[in-house]
Amino acid sequence: MAPLSSKPNAPKIIVTPPGPKARALIERDADVISNSAIRSYPLVAESGSGCIVNDVDGNEYVDFNSGHSALVVGHAHPRIVKAIREQSEKLIHYGWRDFYYERLIELGEQLNSITPGSYPKKVFFSSSGSEANEAAMKAARWHTRRPLFLAFTGSFHGRSFGTMCLTAEKPIQRRHFFPLTPEVTHVPYPYCYRCPFGLQYPNCNMRCVDFIEDEVLTKYHPPEDTAAMFVEPIQGESGCIVPPDDYFQRLKKLLDKYDIMMVSDEAQSGIGRTGKWFAIEHWNVIPEIITSAKALASGLPLGATVAKKEIMDWEKESHANSLGGNPIACAAALQVIETIREDRLLENANRQGTHLLKRLKELQQKFPIIGDVRGKGLMIGVEFVKDQETKEPAIDEAKSVMAKCFRRGLAIIMAGKSTIRFTPPLTITRDLIDAGLDVFEGTVKEVSPKLA
Ligand SMILES: Cc1ncc(COP(=O)(O)O)c(C=O)c1O
Repeated sequence: MAPLSSKPNAPKIIVTPPGPKARALIERDADVISNSAIRSYPLVAESGSGCIVNDVDGNEYVDFNSGHSALVVGHAHPRIVKAIREQSEKLIHYGWRDFYYERLIELGEQLNSITPGSYPKKVFFSSSGSEANEAAMKAARWHTRRPLFLAFTGSFHGRSFGTMCLTAEKPIQRRHFFPLTPEVTHVPYPYCYRCPFGLQYPNCNMRCVDFIEDEVLTKYHPPEDTAAMFVEPIQGESGCIVPPDDYFQRLKKLLDKYDIMMVSDEAQSGIGRTGKWFAIEHWNVIPEIITSAKALASGLPLGATVAKKEIMDWEKESHANSLGGNPIACAAALQVIETIREDRLLENANRQGTHLLKRLKELQQKFPIIGDVRGKGLMIGVEFVKDQETKEPAIDEAKSVMAKCFRRGLAIIMAGKSTIRFTPPLTITRDLIDAGLDVFEGTVKEVSPKLA
């Protein structure tokens, strides 16, 4: 087993960021790069190793962000680097839409073995999470001949035209892009901390599931015209929101009643992030389709749509792409899977996640500005509120925590309105978690209102 990723004396800030080299690059970037990129703060990355990312001015940050959750096995993992080098010397590209190559087949076999459901499956490859979901939409429509979809408010499934119709997180993701296709109905996500029905679990008796049947399917969204429901088992972009234990079982039962397929979008929560290969496994539910991206090839562009074999019965040329399932990305993904297995990274995600969650809950007791702490494995959200009773989101305070953490050497980003998200690589060690949390605690203390 390879050593987990540790580094004494991290983080190390030698010049307050953004330093001079970072500032110069940001100025050049402003001239040439699309305005639409988000840019959480002025971190100009130069290199990375394990759970540490280095900026162009020589600062070292503990990386609780993992390149937006993609670097599950950390930066520059030697096995991934070796696989990429060896594959690039052999075959960089050939195009799976027209020809065959072994890496693609091998990865298809591996994905079939790690996704839930012990029945034959088939995989459609692409280059991103949006494309993986787009393929799921098309496959679901093609197979069922049904036009409609269900999705959740607060969901993020991508920004392509098809997936933008599923995404319902922020108005800015749709503003000036209308008309969309109108075939998606959104229903409330089980966000128990802010229950959309004003109820409390478990006394709510899961009104949120009954609502779908009583109000949506029976009144205006015909179930017999519905191909699939897209779910994020943990809603990532909205703040790592974790549904209650029996939620997905209840939802799946409802969907099965109407022959509506479940698509589990695991672009963010998959490939070990939550301590299981796929987060939906925490609920013992087997979706008909699973989508994966981001971490699948540890940050190389790769998307996969894995479905029951009979669902992928679409005819030749009905869907394809040029660069999906690239051999280098496939070689990296095979090593990601092997590394997670051999280095027991699911166990490490659970172990370190339990420690991280415990320490964050202790901080919640200490600082009333922390309203909620939730998550599974190494996908954890800390939601900031101005007041524990009213739960008014403490947006500026959360942004300030994020900015201060950055200046002190902790790379961490927000999700939702006022949640800070903890998604370090699965290779992280306890000492690095503690080093990062010490920075976090100091900043939370600073932004917390002083008690009289
Ligand atoms: C759950 C989920 N689905 C889909 C996507 C879109 O993936 P991509 O940005 O690779 O298109 C994301 C990206 O954040 C995501 O979190």
